[in-house]
Amino acid sequence: MNNLLKGKKGIIFGALNEKSIAWKIAEQAVAQGAQIVLTNTPMAARMGGTQDLAKELNTLFIPADATSVEDLENLVEKSMEFFGGKFDFILHSIGMSPNVRKGRTYDDLDYNFLQKTLDVSAISFHKVMQVARKKDAINDWGSIVALSYVAAQRTLYGYNDMADAKALLESIARSFGYILGREKKIRVNTVSQSPTATTAGSGVMGLDHLMDFAERMSPLGNADALDCANYVITLFSDLTRKVTMQNLFHDGGFASMGMSRRAMKLYSKGLDELVQAEESNIDFKDVSQK
Ligand SMILES: NC(=O)c1ccc[n+]([C@@H]2O[C@H](COP(=O)([O-])OP(=O)(O)OC[C@H]3O[C@@H](n4cnc5c(N)ncnc54)[C@H](O)[C@@H]3O)[C@@H](O)[C@H]2O)c1
Repeated sequence: MNNLLKGKKGIIFGALNEKSIAWKIAEQAVAQGAQIVLTNTPMAARMGGTQDLAKELNTLFIPADATSVEDLENLVEKSMEFFGGKFDFILHSIGMSPNVRKGRTYDDLDYNFLQKTLDVSAISFHKVMQVARKKDAINDWGSIVALSYVAAQRTLYGYNDMADAKALLESIARSFGYILGREKKIRVNTVSQSPTATTAGSGVMGLDHLMDFAERMSPLGNADALDCANYVITLFSDLTRKVTMQNLFHDGGFASMGMSRRAMKLYSKGLDELVQAEESNIDFKDVSQK
């Protein structure tokens, strides 16, 4: 390993189980020489996964609901005690939509659920930074990263109110990135990751097909959780000190594509089948459900 994070300290939100993107980032951060604190909700604490990782990495787990300013204050204070002072990086890897969970479509949203989606998935990022700033917890030239998705810019069938949450998340990164950059040279970015098979990911409608589509569309193929971890490590390292207020696509090229040869081939095959079916008067629905 290159010890890219030697001497650096940081808080990692969102490692629920081995599939979590934050889990891989925590492992890679420690492998690169960082000291970390892991945090997740009290509910996740009861499930035990995050604590198992804390044991594996020989570090501290502090439960915190990222929507609770009180919990975040406690988290930052305890982390500073553990680190013996300020720290250098924060990973926000948190997302949840009750509308998605309960099957409420975008044209029939429950507005209390929408508030919750925005609070958990986006406003919590503001809360984390506001608490850390008020406690002067982050060293100059520190780095803060949140995970996003291309649905913030482009409409993807079934992503629902999480698209609005991601758009807000990316805006918060720019707005707070200006303040923290101006004052302390701290950078704030979002990483827009490929669809990834995790617990949150599996809530997205038709994840398997979405992943297959993204894989076919991306010249480099989908980025997996480990790829994402490696990229985020560079953002926490001193190699990226002037990158801030950006939404950085980490998606194998997907966000710049319109149509690829691999996707076109599949589409053409499906289309030929459809035309043949129409010619022989087979009901469209029979074919589309194949
Ligand atoms: N999986 C994908 O396809 C994909 C693609 C792009 C971006 N992302 C983003 O990556 C991030 C991590 O998701 P993941 O895919 O690793 O799934 P995951 O389910 O493993 O992680 C989501 C985490 O959010 C935590 N969380 C939920 N509510 C919380 C709260 N109130 N306070 C603190 N933590 C809370 C969960 O406990 C969990 O650890 C999310 O922001 C997600 O939107 C995921």
